[in-house]
Amino acid sequence: MTSTVETWDAERMERPVPPPGEPPPDREVFIRVRGLHKRFGPRHILRGLDLDIYRGETLVILGLSGSGKTTFIKHLMGSLTVDEGELQVGRWDLRQMRESDWDDYRTGMGVVFQHAALLGSLTVEENVGLPLIEVEHLPPDQIRERVIAALRRVFLPAEEILHLKPASLSGGMRKRVGIARAIIQDPALLLYDEPTTGLDPVTVSGVNLLTRELQHSLGVTSIVITHDMEAAFTVGDRIAMLYKGRIIALGTVDEIRASDHPVLRQLLTGAVDGPLTEGFR
Ligand SMILES: Nc1ncnc2c1ncn2[C@@H]1O[C@H](COP(=O)(O)OP(=O)(O)OP(=O)(O)O)[C@@H](O)[C@H]1O
Ligand SMILES: [Mg+2]
Repeated sequence: MTSTVETWDAERMERPVPPPGEPPPDREVFIRVRGLHKRFGPRHILRGLDLDIYRGETLVILGLSGSGKTTFIKHLMGSLTVDEGELQVGRWDLRQMRESDWDDYRTGMGVVFQHAALLGSLTVEENVGLPLIEVEHLPPDQIRERVIAALRRVFLPAEEILHLKPASLSGGMRKRVGIARAIIQDPALLLYDEPTTGLDPVTVSGVNLLTRELQHSLGVTSIVITHDMEAAFTVGDRIAMLYKGRIIALGTVDEIRASDHPVLRQLLTGAVDGPLTEGFR
């Protein structure tokens, strides 16, 4: 007798979710990814990524180290080119950008890196204002005004820290300064690459709440890469799981929480043994 209940064999475990269909009526696709592949020499890292990201949502991308999360957002940043597949962000087709398009495109995007990536020789004011100096060429008093507004948005005591160098700030403050820099140009898209790695739990919660708060106050579309399930559940509207180069699970927080996919279960429970760590032990 054959069972009708499908077992979780390797083929099913790695099976990508179907490509997105029509978006729900109240949703507009902002980022469209179809059949995206990336190879580094013989290593096939992205193996046909299909994904729609809606305008104004926060999408969390989960995945183990080395699964290609940063590689994916580097495509969105334009620091990696599309080898194969389609990648559309708003009105931009990233396969067909002219050299002069990139500045325009990047003005609409803020990036929060794993390590705040502030320049140690510059003050907070100079770090946060850098995009305005380099791209918008604004006069200093206008820059200061915008820097102060951005610092307040991330709940930092702007006037007190404007003249400090990053080394005089706590880790959590540096992270907030990094976020202030990412939002200084009112981006339509915010990319966070492991924004809370290496922070204490209280600061982690603070940064997670801030992500949520910014989504509401700026109406920005956000992509958050994290290993941290709690962070994913706090900040995400939807969660995507990247595994072996494809999206193998995608859903709302509740759907992902309830999923019986073994890869997600392992990440949720933190179990050492399971499909994620197969071959490593
Ligand atoms: N420029 C590159 N040249 C060669 N290999 C690369 C390059 N960039 C990334 N890779 C490889 O691609 C794979 C995915 O890397 P990526 O940085 O996207 O992983 P990740 O999911 O962000 O991991 P982590 O959680 O550790 O940050 C890794 O095996 C990495 O070695
Ligand atoms: Mg990474």
